[in-house]
Amino acid sequence: MKRIFSGVKPTGHLTLGNYLGAVRRWVEVDQHRSEALFSVVDLHALTVEHDPARVTRLSRQAATLLLAAGLDPRLCTLFVQSHVDEHARLSYLLECTATDGELRRMIQYREKSVRARESGDGVRLSLLTYPVLMAADILAYGTDEVPVGEDQRQHVELTRDLAVRFNQRYGQTFTVPRATQPEVAARVMDLQDPTTKMGKSHAEGAGIVYLLDDAETVRRKIMRAVTDSGREVVYDRESRPGVANLLDVLAAATDGDPEALAGGYASYGALKKDTADAVVELLRPVRERHAELAADPGYVHGVLRDGAERARGMARPLVDRAYRAIGLLPAG
Ligand code: TYM
Repeated sequence: MKRIFSGVKPTGHLTLGNYLGAVRRWVEVDQHRSEALFSVVDLHALTVEHDPARVTRLSRQAATLLLAAGLDPRLCTLFVQSHVDEHARLSYLLECTATDGELRRMIQYREKSVRARESGDGVRLSLLTYPVLMAADILAYGTDEVPVGEDQRQHVELTRDLAVRFNQRYGQTFTVPRATQPEVAARVMDLQDPTTKMGKSHAEGAGIVYLLDDAETVRRKIMRAVTDSGREVVYDRESRPGVANLLDVLAAATDGDPEALAGGYASYGALKKDTADAVVELLRPVRERHAELAADPGYVHGVLRDGAERARGMARPLVDRAYRAIGLLPAG
């Protein structure tokens, strides 16, 4: 059976981008057709300035939201990354496999390190090594497929390179994984600035739909989305990014095709209204289920404890094998 791994980092409230780009597929497809592991990757939240209490809170919230969205602990394994030591153990071996040059080329590192420098904070070393830890997350489970949004493709490519290099040098150890992404909405853009990704770590909230926004807030944000000059509704990501983004979101929310949908609209206003209605309906059950689950923290805690135990059982033999392959003396 195919192995699937993916994760979400608790650096902010989960967004519509996270949902359409990744989480919805985990729920609707991945957990049903494979042996799937999903993780709240909290160690990754420490790579930039962070508030400890907020990371704790957001980790619990992210796990609760993933369950609310429909991850079923009977079908998949849901756990918190820091509860499974194997990630950090394997990350070190992969640091001894990766080079400084290939990590400095990562687009997210280049963008985020500039931001960290500009804000006067130093650039944490872990920001540079972040993709190596991500590779460890994936490789520790013999993962075949990694369902992610478009922004993570480069990191999965690096993961493949590291797996191949390790296998060539030290003998066949890791499965070489591949990224999968949704046909539409692999990159949901910010509603106020449709040339940048809708990202949960951005400070400004007006262009970001959060999964826990109430219906009125979702409507307001979508109705105020920046559209392009021009009036015709056409699907063109290059010259009409604002309208294309709304069409992508509407298509994803209604299982439609963005180009075909464009033909049915004579004005931006009607498109915004239908998009807002569709997103409100899409998120309603998630928000309702989240409220129920948040009232039962014992249940979420139990799911995460069981998930971590299962994940450990899967990762340990493989990581132990990697330790031996690279030449470290076995302890036992
Ligand atoms: P993160 O937490 O930024 O995002 C979680 C998932 O949501 C997708 N995503 C989007 N998709 C479409 N449009 C958007 N605007 C958008 N924003 C986010 C992301 O592509 C991702 O699939 N490095 C990862 C977390 C991670 C991971 C892993 C993922 C750590 N280890 C191992 C897979 C496998 C990240 O920062 O995702």
